[in-house]
Amino acid sequence: MEDNLDKFVRELQSEINQEMRETYGDVVFQRWQNPLYMGRMDLPDGYARITGSCGDTMEIFLRFAEGRVGEASFETDGCASSMVCGSFAAELALGKSPEEIMGITGETILEILGGLPKHDRHCAYLAADTLREAVRHYLKHTRK
Ligand code: FES
Repeated sequence: MEDNLDKFVRELQSEINQEMRETYGDVVFQRWQNPLYMGRMDLPDGYARITGSCGDTMEIFLRFAEGRVGEASFETDGCASSMVCGSFAAELALGKSPEEIMGITGETILEILGGLPKHDRHCAYLAADTLREAVRHYLKHTRK
């Protein structure tokens, strides 16, 4: 009995994975399976939290060392795409100066992902907007 249930769950998961890979492509699928840089950070130097028009919230945490991002992480209560976009936003920030980060947009993230379906494109913009806002927060507090 339990074996049948296990088999059913395994097959269902495999179907979901295949559908995800076909719809979103390999880059998104791999990052969805392994969402790097996910998690909160204590006492970040730069922090932002934005709720998008879809109702999902993105948070970005940055720690700077010698004027560049040494650590970055994200949290989201959103969809799989927002998780992937938050992960790439954090990755893109690593090693960059505030000025360099201000050049990162939703398009930058979409390019890395090889695009997203139309209804998910805003997730990339939400992640990039939150990242730039975290830098503004950092600049506001360090240049006082
Ligand atoms: Fe809202 Fe992805 S961030 S649907």
